[in-house]
Amino acid sequence: MTLKVLMLNGSPHPHGNTERALEEIADTLKGEGVESEIVQLGAKPVRGCIGCRKCHDTGRCIFDDDAVNEFVDKARGADGFVFGTPVYYAHPAGQVLSFLDRAFYSGGGSGAFRHKPAASVSVARRGGATTSFDVMNKYFGISEMPVVSSTYWNIAYGQMQGEVEQDPEGMQTMRNVAHNMAWLLKCIELGKASGFARPASEYGEVTNFVR
Ligand SMILES: Cc1cc2nc3c(=O)[nH]c(=O)nc-3n(C[C@H](O)[C@H](O)[C@H](O)COP(=O)(O)O)c2cc1C
Repeated sequence: MTLKVLMLNGSPHPHGNTERALEEIADTLKGEGVESEIVQLGAKPVRGCIGCRKCHDTGRCIFDDDAVNEFVDKARGADGFVFGTPVYYAHPAGQVLSFLDRAFYSGGGSGAFRHKPAASVSVARRGGATTSFDVMNKYFGISEMPVVSSTYWNIAYGQMQGEVEQDPEGMQTMRNVAHNMAWLLKCIELGKASGFARPASEYGEVTNFVR
């Protein structure tokens, strides 16, 4: 049984604090026998969703010049997810939201995310970590994804590169969410092996509040 967690570092800094928090999770998952990969968003531009809905027909975003489609392809083979963001102006960094809007809008229909456990991580200098954490978790709540929690909200504090290591509770929170992720993934895998099928959801009703 090889279980894999796909992670996203939404910071433009590949060696910044968000990356360090995700590495703590990756190391802990490794100790639990769970593989992981951290995809770097980097400093390249990420387009926002234009709501063209072409992805509803093709399962792919029409914009193929950034990392979204490649990430969704990887997501189909992943068992769980961790999405990390730095906090910018008390919300997740704009490029992360653009990325996740398009990844979930284009990948949701194909089941790339559905019924797979997920966690978010936000990293801040001082303010906005929990509001950013809440925003990130909204993607899971509409995608039938079990949300993996920890002993605190998955936040850590730091500004300059590596400073987050000076937040021992933040690092502990990362290790604990990783243990909980590994536990849930293994339970789901055992459930599948015991014949527990994934639930069948209803999708017929879509009410737009237009009367
Ligand atoms: C444009 C910008 C806005 C920021 N806004 C906030 C903020 O609202 N609250 C906060 O605590 N830190 C804020 N920060 C600091 C970053 O969240 C912090 O340095 C974080 O560690 C960066 O993560 P990284 O090293 O992974 O890029 C901001 C940084 C930038 C560049």
